[in-house]
Amino acid sequence: MLHELRRRVLRGNNPELSVADPRDGDATTRHFGGFVDDRLVVSASFYLASAPVQEHLVSYQLRYMATDFDVQGRGYGASVLVIAFDELRALGTEQVWAYARDTALNFYVATGWTIVEGSEFISAETQLPHSIIVKLLADAK
Ligand SMILES: CC(C)(COP(=O)(O)OP(=O)(O)OC[C@H]1O[C@@H](n2cnc3c(N)ncnc32)[C@H](O)[C@@H]1OP(=O)(O)O)[C@@H](O)C(=O)NCCC(=O)NCCS
Repeated sequence: MLHELRRRVLRGNNPELSVADPRDGDATTRHFGGFVDDRLVVSASFYLASAPVQEHLVSYQLRYMATDFDVQGRGYGASVLVIAFDELRALGTEQVWAYARDTALNFYVATGWTIVEGSEFISAETQLPHSIIVKLLADAK
């Protein structure tokens, strides 16, 4: 179900593209999702990984942020992040970061992330423009 949502929303439903991260099953990984009836409609996965900025902070990387097409713009993405931030903060996480699609940057700014200046790049996986984004969850040391 998770891979189907990732594939549909983030990979144009292409069956040949990868929608798995080798860390998906790690004990430290946290997957968050939301359901409407029995259908998974929003998901976000967080992997314990030091960030490209403020490397000394305990950090989680967000990947595969996706809200299904027919329910985008209803606040589901923002809600799942609020829940994720609370749980990650309780685990001792100080910072979250991600390689964010430029088309989603306004969503991330609206949910409290900061864009790292000069970090723009083209993803080798999707060929889409991305930027690095970060958000502090606790006071930086
Ligand atoms: C980006 C995405 C995850 C946002 O999820 P969502 O559930 O539609 O977002 P929400 O309804 O919670 O929106 C939260 C805020 O972000 C804004 N927002 C959401 N998507 C946006 C977008 N693409 N561009 C600009 N603003 C956006 C909303 O207007 C809202 O702002 P508000 O609170 O001021 O009204 C979703 O649109 C999506 O899956 N897009 C395609 C896949 C993608 O790009 N994923 C990110 C990969 S890095």
